[in-house]
Amino acid sequence: MPIPLHQAEVIRAAKLIAAADGLLITAGAGMGVDSGLPDFRSGAGFWGAYPALGQAGLHFESIASPQAFEDRPRLAWGFYGHRLNLYRRTIPHDGFRILRDIGNFLPHGAFVFTSNVDGQFQRAGFRDTGICEVHGSIHHLQCMNGCAVDIWSADDFEPIVDETTCLLTSGVPICPHCGGLARPNVLMFGDWGWLPSRERRQDQAMKTWLEQAERPVVIEIGAGTAIPTARMLGQWTGAPMIRINLRDAQVSRIQDVGLAMGALDALTAISAGLSIGDGQK
Ligand SMILES: NC(=O)c1ccc[n+]([C@@H]2O[C@H](COP(=O)([O-])OP(=O)(O)OC[C@H]3O[C@@H](n4cnc5c(N)ncnc54)[C@H](O)[C@@H]3O)[C@@H](O)[C@H]2O)c1
Ligand SMILES: [Zn+2]
Repeated sequence: MPIPLHQAEVIRAAKLIAAADGLLITAGAGMGVDSGLPDFRSGAGFWGAYPALGQAGLHFESIASPQAFEDRPRLAWGFYGHRLNLYRRTIPHDGFRILRDIGNFLPHGAFVFTSNVDGQFQRAGFRDTGICEVHGSIHHLQCMNGCAVDIWSADDFEPIVDETTCLLTSGVPICPHCGGLARPNVLMFGDWGWLPSRERRQDQAMKTWLEQAERPVVIEIGAGTAIPTARMLGQWTGAPMIRINLRDAQVSRIQDVGLAMGALDALTAISAGLSIGDGQK
């Protein structure tokens, strides 16, 4: 009896992992969907997640901008404060653990490259030194006025947000140096003031990791096509790639595997298939 297509591809994915000495995880917003987090382009969409912004006719690109913090700081912080609270209370789905287990099984372990700003890989137990957050992190703050190059933890900031209006009702976070408005250390749209020093350090750590791994395999999960940062990095390495994506799973190179599945389902199947992959090596 022929093996169903998905299962055949899962077995190919397991074989790619079994042949590798390190795992590079490249992840976009789709990685968090099975933990209950919204991505901002598909499904219910951005306005479904933030109806108050829909009523105001504001798109993701307009609220996720330094201009929004200049013009409407309580609304901009309402949006980011709501996300900060959401990411803090979200429990990462079991796919994160499966990725950690795969990393533990390979000689060079795993490294994460993500355009997500949500800190979910850290929450799932990945080491901070093994993660590159290419668009920054919502769990860190910086000065809006650029008075200093400091980036500091958002841990002391506990936003209260009115969900109907999407407005911050508690105090805005303040820069400890100039007393001006602080903003998330996240790369926004039309953003010339983002401080990239954390990301630069993380990027260097990733390059060092990539130099050491001789046969890395890339697992790309939930990375969209509109801002293809995570997709491009995976392709740039030239390593074989497993692309997991509910809707955009096509791959162009023959050695790659595309799984048109959700992150949790695909990772669960790969984890079960890893013993099959081992057995058939
Ligand atoms: N959690 C976050 O940190 C977060 C959330 C939304 C947006 N963003 C920011 O916005 C930009 C969004 O770009 P993006 O490419 O990450 O997201 P995107 O919303 O453009 O694309 C999400 C992708 O995930 C796929 N997907 C949806 N559900 C999935 C599932 N259950 N399993 C697997 N795949 C699934 C979709 O088909 C799509 O291709 C990024 O630059 C990021 O900084 C971050
Ligand atoms: Zn300042």
